[in-house]
Amino acid sequence: MAEQVAVLVVEATESDVCFVHVLDDARQVLVLMGATPPFTNLSGTVELALGDGVAGWVALHAEPAVVPDKWKDDRYVYIPELRGEEYESLVSVPLLGRGQKVVGVLNVHSQKPRRYGNHDVALLSQVGDLLARTIENARLYERLAEREAILEQFAARTVEAQEIERRHLAGEIHDGISQPLISLWYHLNAAEAFASDPAVVAHELGKAKDLTSAALDEARGAIAGLRPSVLDDLGLGPSLESLAHTVVGPEVEVDITASRLPSHVEVALYRIAQEALQNVMKHASASRVTLQLSTSHGGVQLVVEDDGRGFRPAQGARNRNGDPAYGLAGMRERAELVGARLQVTSTPGTGTRVLVEFPAPSSLQSSTTRAE
Ligand SMILES: Nc1ncnc2c1ncn2[C@@H]1O[C@H](COP(=O)(O)OP(=O)(O)OP(=O)(O)O)[C@@H](O)[C@H]1O
Ligand SMILES: [Mg+2]
Repeated sequence: MAEQVAVLVVEATESDVCFVHVLDDARQVLVLMGATPPFTNLSGTVELALGDGVAGWVALHAEPAVVPDKWKDDRYVYIPELRGEEYESLVSVPLLGRGQKVVGVLNVHSQKPRRYGNHDVALLSQVGDLLARTIENARLYERLAEREAILEQFAARTVEAQEIERRHLAGEIHDGISQPLISLWYHLNAAEAFASDPAVVAHELGKAKDLTSAALDEARGAIAGLRPSVLDDLGLGPSLESLAHTVVGPEVEVDITASRLPSHVEVALYRIAQEALQNVMKHASASRVTLQLSTSHGGVQLVVEDDGRGFRPAQGARNRNGDPAYGLAGMRERAELVGARLQVTSTPGTGTRVLVEFPAPSSLQSSTTRAE
């Protein structure tokens, strides 16, 4: 597209060559993205820092530059690939996108000396506006496609995570509930078979009673695992404190600033803290772990930090059974799902720090606006 526009521009302004430079915002450089022959194959290979050369000046100041004799212009920078020695005069206009933001520069060169007039500048500026819109739309489209890919990935991982959680739950129900029920059946059967012997019946019924309360405990545990009712009753802070009491092994330091958040955010933070503490118990061999919930600038930070053996966070980790490890990936997904950011810092030997930052509602709002 940039190349086709370049050809039209050369014809319309009776010039010899045209270059379209697009601004790479992150790196603050102009990248040549379109040119007329004999420079068409240079697309993507020539770069100019913002502020350098006539094009760099135009991008920086967001205003056109008419240069009748470039050898007399301090702004001109010689780029061997663009064969400046063959062209004498040039005009350069910024490509202005939405909000008059510079997205690139359009340069037109002439071999013979000439002074480009207001008419040329006006024409090039109009073409530049159209080009700028096209570039912005292409970028938006690219970003949309990227987001869609992330969303698809997320959906796939969610299904995978659900499967893993279901398998885990099936295991818990099997071991904790079905097994005791089977034993219970045997004991009740025995009681029935020895109905004439009260001592045996009493013994078997006693066993059956124990098994019933064990199965009941397991069922309660599985339900609590599905939905931490403590959150509904107490809120996040006290729930985290009670979670800290379940840690076995390292000494736990709890530092909680009370704050109420939307319920889905509280569940996410609670689950992340739960998994981070599980990891400390399972992997860290730590002597101390800190659980911290604090507020600043209207946002909330959750930190779980241990002084254990640490590790190298890597993607695609596996747990001890060789299954894909879900813990860290699940924590990240939970955080992202509620608009928070998760950072795991760890190096072997120095311990591990899990930080979740949930931004203030106002910054959430402005980031949404920007995304639109
Ligand atoms: N606090 C920690 N200290 C040391 N190593 C850790 C810590 N947290 C995680 N790891 C390492 O990172 C790996 C991945 O953790 P993750 O929670 O994703 O999986 P997992 O705990 O092994 O299995 P799962 O959570 O799926 O039951 C762990 O196997 C462990 O090696
Ligand atoms: Mg884990």
